[in-house]
Amino acid sequence: MIMFSTPKKIGQLNIKNRFIRSATYEGMATEEGQVTDKHVTLYKNLAEGGVGLIITGYAYVQRSGIAFDKQLGAYNDDLIHGLSKIADIIHKYGDDCKVVLQLVHCGRQSRHLEIRLAPSAVLEKLTKFLPKEMSKKEISETIEAFAQAIRRAKEAGFDAVQLHGAHGYLISEFFSPYTNKRIDEYGGSIDNRTRIVEEIYKKGVELVGEDFPILIKMNGGDFLEGGLTIEDSTKIAKRLATIGFKAIEVSGGMWEVVLRKKKDLGWKPTFIPESRMLIGTVNEPAYNLPFAKEIKKAINIPVIVVGGINSLDIVEQILEEGSADFVAFSRPLIREPDLPERWLKGVGDRKVECLFCNSCLSSLISTGLRCVKKEQS
Ligand SMILES: Cc1cc2nc3c(=O)[nH]c(=O)nc-3n(C[C@H](O)[C@H](O)[C@H](O)COP(=O)(O)O)c2cc1C
Repeated sequence: MIMFSTPKKIGQLNIKNRFIRSATYEGMATEEGQVTDKHVTLYKNLAEGGVGLIITGYAYVQRSGIAFDKQLGAYNDDLIHGLSKIADIIHKYGDDCKVVLQLVHCGRQSRHLEIRLAPSAVLEKLTKFLPKEMSKKEISETIEAFAQAIRRAKEAGFDAVQLHGAHGYLISEFFSPYTNKRIDEYGGSIDNRTRIVEEIYKKGVELVGEDFPILIKMNGGDFLEGGLTIEDSTKIAKRLATIGFKAIEVSGGMWEVVLRKKKDLGWKPTFIPESRMLIGTVNEPAYNLPFAKEIKKAINIPVIVVGGINSLDIVEQILEEGSADFVAFSRPLIREPDLPERWLKGVGDRKVECLFCNSCLSSLISTGLRCVKKEQS
């Protein structure tokens, strides 16, 4: 019996296997963040490939929270119809595949904006941009925007939502002592740093009910001095489980990690540090697993691990040891959308074809998500 083909629930939602497509920005939306035919084709291919649950690329909940051109939007009701095309195509072709809309505010890592919002005015050293500390009114507006986006996801036919609380975007900035220097009720203690998501969760549930699962992705570590450590992130994970989140995906890093040196980190940071290159040489495979294991020990909701998972052997080991409940993949599914099906049928190699070269990132905005290396081979 292959362990990853066994079903498991997230909240009341039955997931047919343990294989999750981690959120992956598509670079395919219109200027207003509307879904296009390119999204529909992408998600049809993924759904047909046998994955149990698909998390979309991050969709911004407010105009002030956009990171890149052609990013999906979830900031007003005009976007619901387009979003429903993603949910529908996955339900139609996915043989009981579930679909989750990832929601984000990009905070101090937002782009194209003269004012970038953040918990505190801490210089973003990579872009050399000083964000504006959010007022209480702005925090309330963002909480309301997330809650309304959760409602839109449900109305569009998604099975659940995931809040993007990792990688140095707004929620991650509230969690992290590196970016959150507030002295009011949104900063300081763990309860205070998680208050924003607690309020989003409660408002969201008021609109969609307890049965609609709200998931979250978070950093096991920020990899920045003064940032989240595993001790801190474990406490945050416990708090998130208490609030009511139905699953936690464990990732790591913020953009500024790019400025750090290999000798200090033990691995070479690349331009998107959460998507490390050269898995198995410079970086070990399943590089977030040590963090996921610790978090898994501390909570009793499902834990999803993502990052550099490069073979069926590692998948089986993670699941058999109970280090995580689900395994998630981003880049391997860009190269091989039918990877789960291939492994289930026992076809070919137990390794993924993906080289983790990050060429998918280089042409994202100009051409949309694709594996450049595969096209060259
Ligand atoms: C092209 C690309 C786009 C990504 N977009 C998102 C995103 O929208 N939201 C998110 O949480 N993570 C995003 N990530 C990070 C992935 O979800 C994942 O955490 C990371 O790539 C490590 O997993 P992998 O080794 O399986 O690729 C993206 C990664 C890549 C390569």
